[in-house]
Amino acid sequence: MKTKIKFLCTVLALVLVACSSDSEDDLIPDDSNNGQGTNAVSYDGNIKAAINGNCLGCHSNPPRNGAPFSLATFNDVKSRADGILAAIKKQTSENGAMPPSGRLPQATIDLVEQWITEGHKEN
Ligand code: HEC
Repeated sequence: MKTKIKFLCTVLALVLVACSSDSEDDLIPDDSNNGQGTNAVSYDGNIKAAINGNCLGCHSNPPRNGAPFSLATFNDVKSRADGILAAIKKQTSENGAMPPSGRLPQATIDLVEQWITEGHKEN
């Protein structure tokens, strides 16, 4: 019995160590935050590329393929930030999930959420 507990403690310790050594840097593919220090997320540094690559095929200016609005500028994206986050958080099969072709990587979704939390910085 004692050995079993010892074993469980060892496993638990290993799990805790493994988790605490996780770095948020792993979650952020694009670290181009212009030397602003602690992983600040900005439109220019992180968000614009994600939107341009995944959304502007339809949400261009003027919008195409039935998209209801443009997401081509900082102000477009900023003013719709909450709706954008809601849409990219949906699962692919859900109504209004964006982009329609399939969910973005979780790291990108987290980045958008962090950008909103940090106050929609432009650069
Ligand atoms: C293939 C074209 C296409 C792409 C790519 C696309 N959208 Fe859309 N989007 C649409 C269409 C069409 C609608 C309106 C119908 C709907 O809501 O499904 C829409 C609606 C939306 C809405 C409003 C949803 C609602 O429920 O009111 C948001 C927000 C949105 N898109 C964000 C995005 C974001 C962010 C991306 C990129 C990650 C993206 N879209 C990529 C075509 C697209």
